[in-house]
Amino acid sequence: MVAASAPGKCILFGEHAVVYGEPAVAVAIDARVSVSLEPCQGSWKLGGAPLDERHPHARFLHSQLVGDDTEPHAMVVTSELFPAAGLGSSAALSAAISAALMHREDDGDGGLDLERISHLAHNAEAEAQSGRASPTDTSTATLGGCVLVSDRREESAEWRWTRTLDTPEGERRWEIHSVSLPESVREAHLVVGSTGIHSPTGEMVAKVAGMLERQPDRMDEIARIGELSRVGAGALAAGGLIVVGRLMDEAHDLLAGLGVSCPELDQLVAAARPTSLGAKLTGAGGGGCMLALTTEPEATAEAIEMRGGRVITTSLGAPGVRIER
Ligand code: MEV
Repeated sequence: MVAASAPGKCILFGEHAVVYGEPAVAVAIDARVSVSLEPCQGSWKLGGAPLDERHPHARFLHSQLVGDDTEPHAMVVTSELFPAAGLGSSAALSAAISAALMHREDDGDGGLDLERISHLAHNAEAEAQSGRASPTDTSTATLGGCVLVSDRREESAEWRWTRTLDTPEGERRWEIHSVSLPESVREAHLVVGSTGIHSPTGEMVAKVAGMLERQPDRMDEIARIGELSRVGAGALAAGGLIVVGRLMDEAHDLLAGLGVSCPELDQLVAAARPTSLGAKLTGAGGGGCMLALTTEPEATAEAIEMRGGRVITTSLGAPGVRIER
């Protein structure tokens, strides 16, 4: 038997703008998805049911990594993440399944091939999302820590690899980097607040695309969000938490201007700001989650809960995918 886990993620800067080639910064959070493989009768299963179209990620990874003549196993999944809330639960699941399937026949103490896991997990996401997926979530679930995704190699961070994907709009290419965080940043916390409102990423991405088609001059705001990602990555690497917080506040206002916030997100952001360095929505918006950077995590969590949000408190930059046993 083998088990593997991978972390969820929060986007600190660059959601939506990353769809137009601008950089994005994400951190892995202390809430993980775990998968164990247990021998079973009959065919391969997930959650007790056969691997079928209800499990597109797992089915794709099984087709890539498991031969027809292998002994069937049940994938048993446990998750500490709010599902479908913009915290990268499907990317974490894909990274954990890839690691577990690749290491099901060894004792788990060998090094993981992170680039291959990230590649497989990204392709699984694309398979499940009609060929369109940025590698932000899957790179962060795989590498852990803080990840900068860009259309070019950035000098401020350590370049890890290039990801390409054939999409319905043609081949796309991303440069994946790790941002190394000083201890002072690791001592701060993120409080993630969930609105409990489910908001499909595809619809929010399409909403922004429609708005930019009608008002092309709004691309200036997309470019400014990209600038915030570059400056924010530099500020994080230098331990400049106050600057990072201010940039997060500006990012929220820009995203709200693009129409991807909602009253519930704005309320949780407003509730968090008095006790935090900065707060913004995270992910696609329209519902889902916000996050606050804070040195007073209990007070910030309480303020968000008082407004009806469910919280996860996390340090910045949890470990990436790993074999658990
Ligand atoms: C969703 O977590 C982030 C978006 O930028 C979409 C994407 O990057 O594919 C809204």
